[in-house]
Amino acid sequence: MMEIRTVGIIGTGTMGLGIAQVCAQSGFNVIAVKATPGSWEKAKASLEGGLNKSVERGKMAAADRDALVGRITFTTDERAVADCDLIIESIIEDLQTKKDLFRRLEAICRPDTLLCTNTSTLSVTAMMAVCKHRSRVAGLHFFNPAPVMKLVEVIHAFETSEEVIETLDQFCKTISKGPVIVQDTTGFIVNRLLTPYMLNAIRMLERGTGTIESIDQAMKTGAAHPMGPFELADYIGLDVVEAMAHNIFEDVRHEHHAPPHTLTRLVQLGYLGRKTGKGFYDYA
Ligand code: CAA
Repeated sequence: MMEIRTVGIIGTGTMGLGIAQVCAQSGFNVIAVKATPGSWEKAKASLEGGLNKSVERGKMAAADRDALVGRITFTTDERAVADCDLIIESIIEDLQTKKDLFRRLEAICRPDTLLCTNTSTLSVTAMMAVCKHRSRVAGLHFFNPAPVMKLVEVIHAFETSEEVIETLDQFCKTISKGPVIVQDTTGFIVNRLLTPYMLNAIRMLERGTGTIESIDQAMKTGAAHPMGPFELADYIGLDVVEAMAHNIFEDVRHEHHAPPHTLTRLVQLGYLGRKTGKGFYDYA
């Protein structure tokens, strides 16, 4: 198996930061690259803010927080990941942008550096296709919030080698996650099941079966889900849910997977859930 010491994270949004935190917490050195224009200070402050809360609540020692933060180097320079053993990209969910990134990474890194994507519903094989050294390309799909959710889907794309899958499986265990190995199909396991579930809840609302609150309450207390489907959609981000629906629909071409009218309208209005202060619920 390959040895992993330094992990490069491209993209310092919610998922990228969460993954950086998880890796650094387990002792890995992390290079976190802010992928969009602007400086990285805000991203670092956001990560530290979350860790400070854990320290205040007595969940983490101040010394452990400092050590964790000390293991992460923030930068805006993509070339800083050149010597990493594993790179996980968590940039915008746009296939062309991700393909361009994979091309650039392949030019910067060693031929055996593991190149992984955290995509939810795009084809890992399509990203692999732009690379020369394809057997080291795979998916590592984390769930939000990454520091809490145990699952990582390890995505076996068309030409990923068994050695790479074994290395990634072991890596996930080292960072205290419970990996499952999944073949590269749109939405993998969780989002392929979860997306139609949220879309069905929205259609149920449109039919007048129940209210946002009653449907959420029913799923929380009747099916033991930690969040109801509308709380969850707001948490994930309605733009992300719509994009996942779109990608699954493009693959299966069945109207059951098409984004419902209400979802599309909310996204058009910029009501994207928690992150904008309004979605199915108001957070203001
Ligand atoms: N970062 C770090 N820790 C966090 C956190 C975050 N962003 N959010 C919550 N936590 C921690 C809290 O500190 C707390 O820890 P302790 O138990 O040690 O105190 C614990 O999680 C529980 O948090 P809270 O008490 O604040 O709130 P809660 O009990 O309501 O749990 C939740 C919050 C974990 C988010 C829970 O509601 C939950 O599991 N929701 C479902 C989340 C889910 O389904 N995620 C998957 C989304 S799909 C996806 O991500 C895939 C995709 O590709 C889009």
